[in-house]
Amino acid sequence: MINRIFRRKKEETPLTDLLDMNNIPRHVAIIMDGNGRWAKRKGMPRAYGHHAGANTLKRVVIAAGELGIKVLTVYAFSTENWKRPVDEVSYIMKLMEEYLGTNLLELNEHNVKLHFIGDLSRLQPNLQQEFREAEADMADNTGLILNVAVNYGGRLELTQAMRRLAEDVESGRMTASDIDVDAVSKYLYTNPENDVDLLIRPGADKRVSNFLLWQMAYAEFWFTDICWPDFTKDTLVDAILSFQGRERRFGGLK
Ligand code: IPE
Ligand code: IPE
Ligand code: MG
Repeated sequence: MINRIFRRKKEETPLTDLLDMNNIPRHVAIIMDGNGRWAKRKGMPRAYGHHAGANTLKRVVIAAGELGIKVLTVYAFSTENWKRPVDEVSYIMKLMEEYLGTNLLELNEHNVKLHFIGDLSRLQPNLQQEFREAEADMADNTGLILNVAVNYGGRLELTQAMRRLAEDVESGRMTASDIDVDAVSKYLYTNPENDVDLLIRPGADKRVSNFLLWQMAYAEFWFTDICWPDFTKDTLVDAILSFQGRERRFGGLK
C-alpha cells in the first residue's frame, strides 16, 4: 500500500486509479467524528465544526456512489450524545433539518436512497416528520443506500430486536427455538444490508462507541487522525486501498 502511494506521488496518478474496482467494499460505515476538535483548533466554537461536518457528508456520499459502494451507514448522533450541553444538542438537531432542506434535491439527483436508523421516537415530532418525508421522496431511488444513524446505539438496537422477538414468542408467532442468527438479523434497522465490510473512524479515537455492534462482526477497521470536516474523497480512497490489501478469512483459513 505504502509503496503504491509512494509510486503515485512520483507519477501523479490519481489515487482512484490504484483501486481494484472489482473489490470495492459493499457496505461502508463511518463514525463521523472530530468535528469539535477540528473547530477548536481553529479557535472556533464546536458548532462551526458540526456545520463543516455536514458539508463533508454530502461530498462523501457522492464520492461513495461514484466509487461503487452500495451501502453507506453514517453515525450522526448516538444514544449517548444526549449527555452533551443542551445548546450543542439543539444545534445538531437544527443542522439535520437544514441539511435536508439544502441537500435533498442534490442527493435525489444522485439517485441516493435515504434511510434513517435509530430510535427516532425521541426526536422532535417535526424532525421525525421531515425524516419520513425525505425517505418517502427517495424511496424509489436505486443508487447508493444511505443510512443515517440518529439517536442510534448498537445496544439499544439489539435490545429492541430482543423485545420484538420476545413479543413474537409471547403471541405464538414463533417459538424460542426459532430464534437464530437469521431471526435476530431481521429485526435490525439495517436489514437486509446488515454486514459491514469496512468501518472508518476519523478523528483519531480508536473505538466503536456503540455503533453497529452486531453488523461489525467481520468488518475491517480503518482509523485516521484526519478530523471529519477535512475528510475527502481521497481519504475514502485511502481507506478502501487499505481494505483491498487485507486478507479476510471470516474464521477460515486462507
Ligand atoms: C462528532 O464530532 C459529531 C457528533 C458526535 C455529533 P464530535 O462532536 O464528537 O467532535 P469531537 O470528537 O469532540 O472532536
Ligand atoms: C461517536 O462519537 C458518535 C458520533 C460520531 C455520532 P463520540 O464523539 O460521541 O464518541 P466518544 O464519546 O468519543 O466515544
Ligand atoms: Mg467525538
